[in-house]
Amino acid sequence: EQSLRTLGQRHGLHIGTAVDLAVLNDPADPRYRQLAASEFSSVTAENAMKWESLEPTRGSYNWGPADELVAFARQNNQSIRGHVLVWHNQLPGWLTSGVADGSISKEELRALLKKHITTVVSRYKGKIWQWDVVNEAVSDPWDNPPTLHYKGFWAQHLGPGYIADAFRWARAADPKALLFYNDYNIEAFGSGDPANDKTQFVYDMARQLRAEGVPIDGIGSQGHLGTQYGNYDTLQVAAALKKFSGLGLATAFTEVDVRSQLTEGVQAGDSAEINPRLQASAANFSVLLRACLADRHCLSFTVWGFTDKHSWVPGWFSDPPEGMATIYDENYLPKRAYHEMKADL
Ligand code: XIL
Repeated sequence: EQSLRTLGQRHGLHIGTAVDLAVLNDPADPRYRQLAASEFSSVTAENAMKWESLEPTRGSYNWGPADELVAFARQNNQSIRGHVLVWHNQLPGWLTSGVADGSISKEELRALLKKHITTVVSRYKGKIWQWDVVNEAVSDPWDNPPTLHYKGFWAQHLGPGYIADAFRWARAADPKALLFYNDYNIEAFGSGDPANDKTQFVYDMARQLRAEGVPIDGIGSQGHLGTQYGNYDTLQVAAALKKFSGLGLATAFTEVDVRSQLTEGVQAGDSAEINPRLQASAANFSVLLRACLADRHCLSFTVWGFTDKHSWVPGWFSDPPEGMATIYDENYLPKRAYHEMKADL
């Protein structure tokens, strides 16, 4: 039977996964490494390229795990989505506390960001296919104020101009890498209140950046969905991709998983109760994948982990408990979502 990567290749589409380096190196869990290599033609470090992982202590870099991912990709003839250069989460403590106590000034913070981007992008120059340069810079309607705005640490301390700066610094360090803006809740267009549509806000941001000559090449749509929200609409997903490509940008689904609420006492499995959720999860994977397949500007479809054994979902969404978000179950048996993806490919 053919792998996802082989099937994707026939369409020129990379099928990727996020990789947890600790699990990849765990000799007691060999199936993880096997599947990461055999099923995917693109990999992303789930955490190893985040700032807190790379520079836990100011000035001393921990390249080990990130280098290992790059070596793994090379061994297995895989492309790499670099994730992530600028984000408000998983920043090193020395940086956030330095800003909080005033020992790092605004000017120094900007210089530190430039140095970080330049250092990381230069180290992997020529090896990264797509970089997530800026991640999750835009608020959601449930944030305060509810009107969409640039949120988080970087906007607060540097103002929204950091976004253009980040893309320029990244381009200077590796002119060939494709530079992406990455976010969630931009998978569909036309789904809600038009005045508060995050897809439209990100579109306006990208159009502005392009107009100013800022080197942005693509928009990454994360794709963290949940079956409790129903099925995504194929036409609205296609419309979002088309809006972005209309600006001359590539697109990609970058972190797809489709979680479900876990009823008390019910474990993952194919029980009658769980069955409809597995179907709904598969259906949402399929909506995103088919939209990507139908759009020649959509370059890759990456899942955020491929097995329920090692998914961020149960640890992150615990009230109520959620899980079952990936395409293989906890025993590495392919789920409906996996079969559905294959059928689509
Ligand atoms: C998540 C990782 O999967 C977790 O292991 C970590 O504890 C927190 O971050 N959006 C992103 C990813 O861009 O980097 C996040 O990854 C998931 C949400």
